[in-house]
Amino acid sequence: MNPANGPTPDFGIRPGEQAVDLPASPDAGVYFIGRIRTPWTERKDCPKNARASDAVCTVEVEARYAPALKEVETCSHLVLLYWMDKAPRNLVLQTPSHYGIERGTFSLRSPARPNPIALSVVKLLSVDGNKLSVVGLDCLDGTPLLDIKPYFASTDSVPDAVVGWHKRKDERAP
Ligand SMILES: C[S@@+](CC[C@H](N)C(=O)[O-])C[C@H]1O[C@@H](n2cnc3c(N)ncnc32)[C@H](O)[C@@H]1O
Repeated sequence: MNPANGPTPDFGIRPGEQAVDLPASPDAGVYFIGRIRTPWTERKDCPKNARASDAVCTVEVEARYAPALKEVETCSHLVLLYWMDKAPRNLVLQTPSHYGIERGTFSLRSPARPNPIALSVVKLLSVDGNKLSVVGLDCLDGTPLLDIKPYFASTDSVPDAVVGWHKRKDERAP
């Protein structure tokens, strides 16, 4: 099935999950600015979040955007935005396998969402032309890249932020 309209074989619908009809056409388009090269070709092997692996990954930026990398090498950390191209887009309630309780898509970091945009704060190791070596990714090899931004610890970090349901991790289905 088309990922835009329903579950891919790799995802499926779990008990408690709910899908909706998506609008007939999108409201805007995006330009993929490159691809992310990672060691992972299957979801089961992918880290669940950006801190779960210290694998060095390569961000390949399309040559036309190379000038936009000027002074990126001065940044210790970057925010990467990428497009989870293998995820379904129509789920509004999801039951993550490791919790067994359905939650709203917008309270989750699942790749399945109407606009399957993921983000990670990565550590920048080096820049070689239009290739960046980074640590801190959780996506499949070949995942399309949407944007690169400098990470500002002064404004992006909220050390006392809380996700209420995550504090209740022991709340699992019987
Ligand atoms: C739980 S998400 C976290 C995403 C991101 N760090 C965020 O919070 O925005 C990471 C998972 O997405 C899945 N995934 C990775 N690359 C994907 C892709 N290109 N399409 C669909 N799913 C992907 C893998 O199962 C991986 O473990």
